[in-house]
Amino acid sequence: MKTKYLITFLAVVFTTSQTFGHADVAPQPVNTDALPDVGEEWREENPYRAETAGEEVWKTAIEIGASGYNQNCARCHGLEAVSGGLAPDLRYLEANLDGDEWYTERYRNGYTVNGITKMPGYDELLGQKAAWAIRTYIETRPDDGALDDFLDQLATIRDDLKKIAERLVAGTAAYADISAKVDTYKAVLREVANQVSTASGAPAADSAASRAYTALDASAEGVAKATEFLTVGLSVAQ
Ligand code: HEC
Repeated sequence: MKTKYLITFLAVVFTTSQTFGHADVAPQPVNTDALPDVGEEWREENPYRAETAGEEVWKTAIEIGASGYNQNCARCHGLEAVSGGLAPDLRYLEANLDGDEWYTERYRNGYTVNGITKMPGYDELLGQKAAWAIRTYIETRPDDGALDDFLDQLATIRDDLKKIAERLVAGTAAYADISAKVDTYKAVLREVANQVSTASGAPAADSAASRAYTALDASAEGVAKATEFLTVGLSVAQ
């Protein structure tokens, strides 16, 4: 195993200079300033998981990773990490030490066969913090059909939140009523969010339900944002 990696690594080192000029799209920088530093040496395990880094860092990593992924990896690996067949579907890479090892190997060295770069290495181009942000995003994608059982429930909540948003904007809503409803919906969204599964085995998915849950509060803006997350999620699922 080790030898294979070494050979791949050397092959990449020797061929990158010739082949990289032919890589068609320039890498898009990922701004990772909002994430904690991880040092120079490469970590063996994703340092931005909620269990080790806390919810806040985890959520920030997902947000930054989403944009980093969609700008740099999606053209081969598919939008939202759903592969169209050009390159492997990364959602299935296990969210554990083995998965992380394979992920960093490919991320850092890319993949070159017979002098042709099938995937560029991102070690120098994007760096380690971007690597783990993107990893966090990938491993928290919901599994295929993971929202299916909840679509009706989410659509009902979305429709009611839409009405609430209108009343908040028009100023015709009693605050106590709104606030009680919002609390109820928040609890339901949390429950749904906790049941959405990942293909990677990561314990929590970043789904329309979890995003709506986080955004929702009794303000016009909070209600509108949650409504939008649900609408986007429902349109993707159907
Ligand atoms: C130019 C196309 C291209 C781009 C861009 C690209 N990849 Fe890849 N990637 C591939 C191909 C092709 C493979 C399959 C290589 C192989 O057969 O092992 C691959 C394999 C991988 C693997 C191993 C998956 C597995 O199941 O074995 C990982 C991890 C990976 N890529 C991550 C990324 C990340 C992260 C990005 C963006 C930062 C990215 N790739 C950008 C083409 C690409």
